[in-house]
Amino acid sequence: MTKNILPIAVFDSGVGGVSVLMELVNMMPHENFIYFGDTANAPYGIKSACCVRELTFSVYEKLKAGGIKAFVIACNTATSVAVAALREKYPEDIIIGIEPALKPAVKCCERPTVAVLATPLTLKEEKFSLLLQRFEDDARVIPFACPGLVEFVERGEVEGERLHAFLDELLAPLKKEELDAVVLGCTHYPFVKSEISSVIGENVQIFDGSVGTALNTRRRLEENNLLNDTNEKGRVIFIDSSYPNEENTSKSMLVKFGGEYLCS
Ligand code: DGL
Repeated sequence: MTKNILPIAVFDSGVGGVSVLMELVNMMPHENFIYFGDTANAPYGIKSACCVRELTFSVYEKLKAGGIKAFVIACNTATSVAVAALREKYPEDIIIGIEPALKPAVKCCERPTVAVLATPLTLKEEKFSLLLQRFEDDARVIPFACPGLVEFVERGEVEGERLHAFLDELLAPLKKEELDAVVLGCTHYPFVKSEISSVIGENVQIFDGSVGTALNTRRRLEENNLLNDTNEKGRVIFIDSSYPNEENTSKSMLVKFGGEYLCS
């Protein structure tokens, strides 16, 4: 079998990585994908680094054994704690991570004030401190942990009064800042972007890392001559670790998030 037709694996703690998968499918409609949501262990962002690293390795090794041509960690938290170690152990493999989209956000105006919303674990890790250092001269950056928000998205509650009240209280300290931009540093958050926007103000620009990650994935596949050169539309298989023996069990959940067309 030629390696080009093998699927690209896309991994997250749950449904959040679908925000990245949608960009990947838009950019590479002829590719086959396996989406793995580790909902049995979500949320990752309040676990220890060691635990999330182990979970990420275990998913990677399972998917690698089944045959994949690239692994996209569509999870900022798992990327923070595991991408370097995975690349070190598997230097020949294509392993793509995601990071909070500070790079485009700091360009939104002259020395902007930018809040980075992410999980507690992402913000605690050295990878994030290094990212902050890279941009400290270009912007005032406010790291802001959002524990509890992932759970809303996991249960499909992406709008409504309860979510609005939760965000209103959570993001209250940010309303005192003169924010120019917000970076959604967790792949679950784009699903609640309009609620976030209505709380922090429609004039604040919002950035996320999904397009950058998809572009990076395509570039790596191109460089390695691994794009699928068929004219046929690719397939997406969804695997949910809460239902390990069934494929596509997350489908009904994904339909809510606009994933419907991915399955057609
Ligand atoms: N979606 C993941 C991220 O980008 C983490 C969510 C979780 O806490 O499980 O960080």
